[in-house]
Amino acid sequence: MSSITIKTDDDIKGMRIAGRLGSEVLDYITPFVTAGITTGELDRLCHEYMINIQGTIPAPLNYCPPGYTPFPKAICTSVNDVVCHGIPGDKMLKNGDVVNLDITVIKDGYHGDTSRMFFIGEPSIMARRLSTITFECMWLGISKVRPGGYLGDIGHVIQQYAEKAGYSVVREFCGHGIGKIFHEEPQILHYGRQGTLAEMKPGMIFTIEPMINAGRKEIREMPDGWTIKTRDRSLSAQWEHTVLVTDTGYEVLTMSAGAPPPPELIKANAA
Ligand code: MF3
Ligand code: CO
Ligand code: CO
Repeated sequence: MSSITIKTDDDIKGMRIAGRLGSEVLDYITPFVTAGITTGELDRLCHEYMINIQGTIPAPLNYCPPGYTPFPKAICTSVNDVVCHGIPGDKMLKNGDVVNLDITVIKDGYHGDTSRMFFIGEPSIMARRLSTITFECMWLGISKVRPGGYLGDIGHVIQQYAEKAGYSVVREFCGHGIGKIFHEEPQILHYGRQGTLAEMKPGMIFTIEPMINAGRKEIREMPDGWTIKTRDRSLSAQWEHTVLVTDTGYEVLTMSAGAPPPPELIKANAA
């Protein structure tokens, strides 16, 4: 039984605002993501910006899906071989690290969910390539969003592109419907086959957030109950946008002045 909600015009207006605000938290924090800062300080800065400047609520704080303990912080900070859900703490960032910052804000009841990769100092060739390919995977997935298309089209193009690059796609975590609820139907798998799963319809809103590993796809959960690492300790990258299915295609809701523009391969397709 599936029930993918179709958002109302009012919902869409609210989601546009929440999405932009989520992205603006990433814009705000960008200059602080440098060697010597701890992930806990990044969390504190983002949390204060959300509460005091934006008037938003951090959705991760105390978020507690079935079988989990409440998430203790306002953002997720996933460094190097951490795939997702890294808990901010005393870990100090150093040159060569790569970190994903995943922000979800709530504004007027609506959720905006987005993440980006950041390099501390000069990244290795390998880390830069993994982040670039993952960014392109996300955008290739976004480019498949249109009414009459299928959710499987998104996973298919992501898996093809990641595996052709020699990387693997994490299976245990996926994108998700989002609105007044943080995680709702449908699941957006980042692997799969064209023309499968649910048909996309105008007014659906969901995230696309591929987690791509430089090595094998298998993961391991840490004893904190949240942090997910690659089992083989290889690097992992993730990018995330929240996307609306429009009458003609897609609208990315989590854009802002500092959000990186779509990659060349998307512009080339669109032209
Ligand atoms: N923001 C994550 C996502 O993209 C979810 C984080 S849940 C948390 O779905 F509790 F870890 F914050
Ligand atoms: Co998400
Ligand atoms: Co997220």
